[in-house]
Amino acid sequence: MAGNVDALYIFLIIVSGLMTLLIFTAVVYFAARYRHRRGVLAEQIEGSTPLELTWSIIPLGVFMVIFIWGAVVYFKERTPPRDSTEIYVVAKQWMWKLEHAEGQREINELHVPVDRDVKMIMTSQDVIHSFYIPAFRIKQDVVPGRYTVAWFRATKPGTYHLFCAEYCGTQHSGMIGSIVVMPPAQYEAWMSGGSTGPLSASGEKVFAELGCATCHRSDAQGRGPNLQGLFGTPVKLEDGRTVVADENYVRESILDPGAKIVAGFKPVMPTFQGLVSEEQLNALVAYVKSLSKSAPAGASSAAATPPSTNAVTQGSQVQ
Ligand code: CUA
Repeated sequence: MAGNVDALYIFLIIVSGLMTLLIFTAVVYFAARYRHRRGVLAEQIEGSTPLELTWSIIPLGVFMVIFIWGAVVYFKERTPPRDSTEIYVVAKQWMWKLEHAEGQREINELHVPVDRDVKMIMTSQDVIHSFYIPAFRIKQDVVPGRYTVAWFRATKPGTYHLFCAEYCGTQHSGMIGSIVVMPPAQYEAWMSGGSTGPLSASGEKVFAELGCATCHRSDAQGRGPNLQGLFGTPVKLEDGRTVVADENYVRESILDPGAKIVAGFKPVMPTFQGLVSEEQLNALVAYVKSLSKSAPAGASSAAATPPSTNAVTQGSQVQ
């Protein structure tokens, strides 16, 4: 994306520069040419339609180029590719906590493979922070109470700065980290060390501990909706609306179950606000997600299988 953003930015500078030059030249020229002279009376000039059309239509064209170009770059930068590797980010005063879908946890450091689409699903534990990697030209606010998303594809191995770009308290300037982009082989070696198992498996554990499975059964008999194959699909609600079951939907349904009642169900689920940490929420979201990526039985085998190097090459949460 960096090249696209830069090209647009350079174009804006060139257009602004040319216009500035044009205006200042005209100001100086007209000031000299039409200066006050003794005994000469100013002529009244009437409007000119061709001239006015020219200076309306040409700028309109230039602005439309900027608008369309900007929109294309914006939507590309805002839309993570479908098969991105997923990283859950929790910001807090004053650090970045990052967790890979495969289970690796990091603080203020993120290891990613080169040439792979990486999607960050981010939330904050306290105030608003902003996830900023200047070299990748991405900056996204990280907000408490919901998920925001950013993505990148690093093209060169190396270490890049990560900053917090939203004033978040006394040590805001110290809320920095680094993105370590590694060649695939080196990344796989890094991934094979120090994992507590996939994030979805931790989620499954939390799911069991909180007794979610007593209502959310994997058949149609539960008091809550069956979560198998739910993620990413449209959900019909009791009030007639249809929403897509994305990360924010799952999150909201855990913290504020009454907000969106699925058609055919009663609002009987208690809130888990204050009972689950951001990390546990992320794990639960990853677990619900994993129920859509595998056969119903697959999720439990994930807990037993250590993350294979296979999982690295095929993307996240492969079972
Ligand atoms: Cu976090 Cu500034």
